[in-house]
Amino acid sequence: MQPNTDRTAPDPEPTAGDAAEAEAQAQAQTPAARVPQQSGGDTPASAPAPAPASARPRVTLRSDLRAGVLDGAVALVITAAIFVLLYARIRSRASSTATVMPFMADDPGGFWMYFLSQAFGWSALLWAWVTVVLGLLLSGPRPAWLPMSVPRLERLHRTTSLNTISLIAAHALLFAAELINHDTDAWYAAAWTAFVESFVPGGYASGTGRIAIPIGQAALYLAIPLGLLFYIRHRIGPTTWRVLHRFVIAVYILSVWHTLLYGTNVWYDGWFRTSIWLLQLPIAALFLLRLLRPARRSQRLTAPSAHPGSQAGWTLRLTGRILAGATLAILLAVLATGRDGGRAEPPADTSSTHNHD
Ligand code: HEM
Repeated sequence: MQPNTDRTAPDPEPTAGDAAEAEAQAQAQTPAARVPQQSGGDTPASAPAPAPASARPRVTLRSDLRAGVLDGAVALVITAAIFVLLYARIRSRASSTATVMPFMADDPGGFWMYFLSQAFGWSALLWAWVTVVLGLLLSGPRPAWLPMSVPRLERLHRTTSLNTISLIAAHALLFAAELINHDTDAWYAAAWTAFVESFVPGGYASGTGRIAIPIGQAALYLAIPLGLLFYIRHRIGPTTWRVLHRFVIAVYILSVWHTLLYGTNVWYDGWFRTSIWLLQLPIAALFLLRLLRPARRSQRLTAPSAHPGSQAGWTLRLTGRILAGATLAILLAVLATGRDGGRAEPPADTSSTHNHD
């Protein structure tokens, strides 16, 4: 790891990125090296010394993909459960998707890929939520009651992040597959149209999707580099990585915006839509705390006189804290008033409201 020159004093605890190195160090210790320490440090003179830093295995994309299999499997089980629920609600016409697009409720079996895409959308959002919460716990003040060590927390943050990207990709791919399924053109023309509509910004040209789909695409296209840069941080430098990684919060904001704008299950005013807003409260609170009490001392907002020559940086930090406070206030106002941007409840006869606009 390159020396961290931006610290003015030792941090109380390791922060994001540091624990990966510590974890690599722990992994590098052979069982033979560990046993004597556990039995009271009675180390024989011939015991192997801990591996030098250069010999320690680095956390790689491959090792994290392997480590992420378990939470990936949990994500798939949850996606399957959401799919069953969405499908049952469509069949019984209790789902607001059936209200927005009644033709789907007339033939639920014909649109199963669409409902599976929705289910992946929800698990992607849930995994993104967990990833952001874990990230904020690592970079802000960490509650003492957390049952996990820093390296484990950090590894979980990385694996949920990788799985979030896969879940978003599955969500978008299934949407594309659904478009192909209902396209009567030749397969190659249908595949091209579906690709353009699902993955090319501006390619989807009707209704709310003209805005909502590019927002989802922006989230996906930002998530890939911002999530994966970690694995080449030794090339770009830990400071560059850390600065770029901060923008990953934009991925989450875009994801929530896309969902609230386009999700037909949260199309109308109601408790479910309000719950999605409610779920943003802990994120906003943790984000504000992370800015007010960052784990890294160098990121604290001290008096402007302590930052001679970097007035712009100080102003930026102050603006960030004010914006985070304002976001929290807006969320509280939305929850208190119930005005969460949902469409008005549909009329009893919905046969004419079948446009996903
Ligand atoms: C290429 C990128 C994306 C495409 C093409 C896409 C496409 C869509 C479409 C067509 C819908 C409407 C489905 C409905 O009727 O409800 C939708 C909804 C949704 N999307 Fe995306 N999306 C993308 C990215 C994302 C991302 C990044 C997330 C979150 C991490 C996400 C999560 C959701 C959720 C939760 C819903 C609501 C589903 C429902 O109401 O049941 N999407 N998306």
